[in-house]
Amino acid sequence: NWTTGDILDEQIARIREQVGDARVICGLSGGVDSAVAAALVQRAVGDQLTCVFVDHGLLREGEAEQVERDFVAATGVNLYVANEQDRFLSALSGVTDPEQKRKIIGREFIRAFEEAERTIIEKAKAEGEQIRFLVQGTLYPDVVESGGGEGTANIKSHHNVGGLPEDMRFELVEPLRALFKDEVRSVGRQLGLPSEIVNRQPFPGPGLGIRIVGEVTRERLDLLRKADAIARHELTAAGLDDEVWQMPVVLLADVRSVGVQGDGRTYGHPIVLRPVSSEDAMTADWSRLPFDLVARISNRITNEVDGVNRVVLDVTSKPPGTIEWE
Ligand code: XMP
Repeated sequence: NWTTGDILDEQIARIREQVGDARVICGLSGGVDSAVAAALVQRAVGDQLTCVFVDHGLLREGEAEQVERDFVAATGVNLYVANEQDRFLSALSGVTDPEQKRKIIGREFIRAFEEAERTIIEKAKAEGEQIRFLVQGTLYPDVVESGGGEGTANIKSHHNVGGLPEDMRFELVEPLRALFKDEVRSVGRQLGLPSEIVNRQPFPGPGLGIRIVGEVTRERLDLLRKADAIARHELTAAGLDDEVWQMPVVLLADVRSVGVQGDGRTYGHPIVLRPVSSEDAMTADWSRLPFDLVARISNRITNEVDGVNRVVLDVTSKPPGTIEWE
């Protein structure tokens, strides 16, 4: 019968014991697991920790700010931000195949993260210190059946295999290894993390890059971010965040359809709403959202987002459809 307070004290004691007075590095993805893991380590060893946030430009509206501003304000953590939007956009230029996009995003992410690590290692060296530990937000279910989880999972396997220079091989600190998701959220709340981060629904590592069917461009990302922000805002306002497992909002960038708006003909893109209910994302059913909510989202997106003239609702379960479109 553990309470959140017990978990907190126990984990903080363990981290202190493992890390001693060494330096620690931690990647933040914007998701709840890496945020709670980082906040725990920060609580345990303070300024010995440096966090890295690779901003790939594929997050949703407000999410980069939630990390760079709100998370830092709540924890006082040392944060190194790598602004890599241009790098990801140029690597993705001309690419439309979903698996290709995933590979490119994963590869660039690891490279960008390693470059950031290198900078931090050099800075520590100049201070006569060495980075010895890497924090991972591995949860109990990830331990049991590895696979799934956040976008940082690829960093983990990457750091476990050799091939890296000796000063970039770290011991892992995994303060969430014994916890389930709801326990992680409750530890996050206890640590005073922003509720947008603590209560965030699952979001894929490759981000909006796999929610644009077609080539990823800056303009399309901006458009999708606006549509997604409206859909999320209305879902929250309707009080349905807990009922809906996640609601991908997808831009069909390669599809155009004829519409009429004001007194003119339009030839715009459809936005797909993909609300699903699920226990574990392995199977899912499409959520029977109230139709007045669907109508509100549709009206707002078509009125407020230039270039979108149609909103469609995905009514496919998983299987046969996956949750994401790519
Ligand atoms: P699918 O689309 O396979 O998604 O039904 C199942 C769950 O996994 C998430 N997802 C990903 N998460 N990297 C991730 O970290 C990925 O490449 C990825 N693809 C899908 C998806 O959002 C859903 O929760």
